[in-house]
Amino acid sequence: MNCIGSNLPEGVGQPLWLLAELTYRCPLQCPYCSNPLNYDLNKTELSTEQWIETFRQARKMGAAQLGFSGGEPLLRDDLEQLIKAARELGFYTNLITSGMGLTLERMQAFKEAGLDHIQVSFQASDAEMNDYLSGNKRSFQEKLEVARTVKKLGYPMVFNCVIHRENIDQIDKIIELSLALESDYVELATSQYYGWALKNRDHLLPSKAQLVAAEATTNRYREQIKGKSRTKLIFVVPDYYEERPKGCMNGWGNLFLTITPDGTALPCHSARELPIQFPKVTEESIESIWYRSTGFNHFRGYGWMKEPCRSCDEKEKDFGGCRCQAFMLTGDASNADPVCAKSPHHHLITEARDNADLAQPAQGSMIYRNRKNSQQLSQTQAADL
Ligand code: FES
Repeated sequence: MNCIGSNLPEGVGQPLWLLAELTYRCPLQCPYCSNPLNYDLNKTELSTEQWIETFRQARKMGAAQLGFSGGEPLLRDDLEQLIKAARELGFYTNLITSGMGLTLERMQAFKEAGLDHIQVSFQASDAEMNDYLSGNKRSFQEKLEVARTVKKLGYPMVFNCVIHRENIDQIDKIIELSLALESDYVELATSQYYGWALKNRDHLLPSKAQLVAAEATTNRYREQIKGKSRTKLIFVVPDYYEERPKGCMNGWGNLFLTITPDGTALPCHSARELPIQFPKVTEESIESIWYRSTGFNHFRGYGWMKEPCRSCDEKEKDFGGCRCQAFMLTGDASNADPVCAKSPHHHLITEARDNADLAQPAQGSMIYRNRKNSQQLSQTQAADL
């Protein structure tokens, strides 16, 4: 493997984790989707050859893990080919899917192509809630069948369920379901509030009491299954209930490289919402993008920081928190992440928490991720400029 690791510019890591968002097309309409609000404006998709060339360049730079994501990556007819090419290049490959439309034949073809790992997302533990949250009436049944087949074929399986105000009280049943499906890893990740999830935050942010109860339930199950099951339960608390921000992405342009369907390269999956020009793999090499582009260098190091981050003795641990969250909540991506109690904008977080303790969002006011809503939101964004 011809890696260029030894020639790295000082302080810049390698793009070890590559996320390939193959398409924004998706049969589901989850209200916490991580795709940009205006995804419908971006219908171009890289060709098979362009994706493979992207993988080749990223691998040469040291990338080791490759996640196939979307939208729904199964909607790409060439997924088998992409998996095969990635495995031949030496990637550890992970399919991140809703499971919708995944047949036994296709799973077998993925196996032959060398796919290592499958993550199936669920929205809830029963059909009614699952189908309500996904905006698709037959999704639960289909997901169950897919998850069973994934295990039957011997894949390691991640059962992923985004946890939020609407489903957190049934976390015991979600865990029961994940155990019944013999999941290897169970990701109970509370929603992060970017893009669609920020629009729906009143529906999604759990109250403190809900969160404490859910964590206690998860811990009870951890004790119950100790020594009896190989399943690992991972519970991720929302940063809204922290007093210090997360070291998002392990630092900007330090480890993660996301490529969107049209080939735009991003330091994280939400960065497309920032007022920063990011380069495309169709116009520049990944090496040049990673080391020399303005977009990737924007928040590297500490020179861009304002107070209170600039003089903070924790800045090397959390890098001032999440740039996307700072932008979405304060309008300036170089502000401290408002999650930090030292931020002058921290009240935006505490007010949202207080609201989660009190308010019941209006029924039927959830904004689903679909083309119609994306078009409307794009128009609103354009009018605001
Ligand atoms: Fe983009 Fe945190 S999600 S920097």
